[in-house]
Amino acid sequence: MRINVNDREYAVEVDGNPSLLEVLREQLDLTGTKYGCGEAACGACKVLINGTPTPSCITPATAAQGKNIITIEGLEKEGELHPVQKVLMEEDVFQCSYCAPGMILTAVALLENRQQLSEQEIIEGMNGNICRCCTYPKIVSALSKITHKDKA
Ligand code: FES
Repeated sequence: MRINVNDREYAVEVDGNPSLLEVLREQLDLTGTKYGCGEAACGACKVLINGTPTPSCITPATAAQGKNIITIEGLEKEGELHPVQKVLMEEDVFQCSYCAPGMILTAVALLENRQQLSEQEIIEGMNGNICRCCTYPKIVSALSKITHKDKA
């Protein structure tokens, strides 16, 4: 099968019906995407599929064919971190960072085409991403600092 990840086309041989997460980590060596609960409940494995945050642990790799997949490795452009990555680092939000890739990609999708989000919109939009270190207040505070100007 062929899949497009981070604007690059890959040809991969699949045996059985692997999840997209397995293909990303084990065949493409894109290990930024994490295995968490394995049942789409924690958000650690989220990637963007055609711009939508999607749990890759329950998504068959074959279902991702013909779609644009973005993983955490694909956010940096020409050596520049995405504004969401920048603000979360500047605000020193994460502790263990296991949740970070899924959190960041969800936030990127949430802020797409939006000038700024209210705290309530961030809380609702980030629902489904679990942080075991309970950094939620810092995540909300940091994301509320992103403005349209930062994203330009
Ligand atoms: Fe540890 Fe979120 S920083 S799980």
